[in-house]
Amino acid sequence: MATRNDSRERNRSTTKKNTNNRNGERSAFSFGDSDSGALPLLGALAAGAAIGIGANWARKFLQQTSESMMAGNEWDSILALEHKATLAKFDLLLATEDSDTGKRAALVKTIHYALNKHAHQEEQVVYPALRQANETVDADHLEHEHGYVKTYLYRLENMEKDSPEFLPTVREFRDLIEQHARMEEEQVYPRFKNSLSEEQNAKITSLMNKEGMKMN
Ligand SMILES: [Fe+2]
Ligand SMILES: [Fe+2]
Repeated sequence: MATRNDSRERNRSTTKKNTNNRNGERSAFSFGDSDSGALPLLGALAAGAAIGIGANWARKFLQQTSESMMAGNEWDSILALEHKATLAKFDLLLATEDSDTGKRAALVKTIHYALNKHAHQEEQVVYPALRQANETVDADHLEHEHGYVKTYLYRLENMEKDSPEFLPTVREFRDLIEQHARMEEEQVYPRFKNSLSEEQNAKITSLMNKEGMKMN
């Protein structure tokens, strides 16, 4: 039976496989340099401290790296962890009563923040990398669904929090997030990850962490 290590070995031998796109151009996600994981962030942190950017930057750095380390510092595990955490927030929202208007407003805000950061990382790094690897149909489908995520957020934010429509809308929204996350986690991301070398995957993780930090 093929193991994860076997597939990594296989991937290492096809390092250049997705470096170029269909037109033979070098990808924006070309993976030949030594930039990987948290090292560039550490360098930037030191530089930031040196010029006095200070506490806010350090907070963002620590938040992003702790998320990343919890997920084993792999881009797909970080995204899967964020899916799980967001669905848990939906469950808290679904457990509220119509009278819990303040709690509902606060949870919608938290979900909005989490989904914005998550979508930013995917839209700035993962989906463009998918397109560079000619996985355009999946990338376009997923990004199209992000549009509906924004629509649900808009509806919930502008709805009276004690409206009888509130919980049914949250339920529909949760279903959308769950099936979107399932498509990413079970179909698109594993296939894409397995087509890349270890170095290419590390590059995506590094780029994604940098984008995530901008949204912390
Ligand atoms: Fe997504
Ligand atoms: Fe996602």
